[in-house]
Amino acid sequence: MVSILKLVVVKLGGSAITDKNKRYTPRYDVIENIAYDVKKLSEKFQLILIHGGGSFGHPVAKEYEIHKGFFSKKQILGYSKVRYYMTMLNQIVLEKMIEAGVPAVTLHTSNIAIAKNGEIFSMDADKILKYLNLGMVPILYGDAILDLNKGFCIISGDQIASYLALKLRPWKVVLGTDVDGIYSKDPKKHPQAKLIQVFSISEIEKIRTEKLEIDVTGGILAKILEMEKVVETGIPVIIGNITIKNGLLKLVKEETPKYTKIIV
Ligand code: IPE
Repeated sequence: MVSILKLVVVKLGGSAITDKNKRYTPRYDVIENIAYDVKKLSEKFQLILIHGGGSFGHPVAKEYEIHKGFFSKKQILGYSKVRYYMTMLNQIVLEKMIEAGVPAVTLHTSNIAIAKNGEIFSMDADKILKYLNLGMVPILYGDAILDLNKGFCIISGDQIASYLALKLRPWKVVLGTDVDGIYSKDPKKHPQAKLIQVFSISEIEKIRTEKLEIDVTGGILAKILEMEKVVETGIPVIIGNITIKNGLLKLVKEETPKYTKIIV
């Protein structure tokens, strides 16, 4: 059973699908719109969806310092909590997909992957391929997972996206967020910030020198460094806004003038 549809790896950023300022708060309207777009896209493309943690993953991971690896017994309840709240967010995403008629199926990242020093060491991509070949839409998510050296760690949705891109060689990788792409400055703090439509990795130094808020998975800088591995192999990576109506649909097809394409 070999499919001829183009494969697209889509990351649904936590800032788009959750309210980052309120713990454990999904943005149902955004998730519903995305699910509608996924339904449309699934008629033309094979899709792998990966969602982030937003206010379901980051605050609790930070509180228990799960991203630093195991160093205290006090952390283990935190590991349970991250897994619990990420599963909860995943159920909401999955529910909205199914309601929109998308044959989605979750592969819980912590059950199919193991990390080594904060990087994905192995992941059962074969299972993902089998679901794709059945015409289904696999969903994974950034999560707390076991780490061969650190006990446990946090793996971001971006790390999963780049790992799978290198392994499965999709047509493109699409990173959905709550802004139009990469800006010269944080657009939420600087209204005059300019959207960079073609972002060359060689310009990364500009971002490094800016003082940016860093979350447990490293923020925009970690995102770009993760995507560097992907674009280097010739797979296009685009970043854009999926909180607006038909945002994801237009972004995948590059039918919107406002997005960022990452190049080497
Ligand atoms: C983080 O995944 C997962 C956890 C904190 C458990 P991401 O780093 O991909 O999440 P977002 O997209 O930035 O919210």
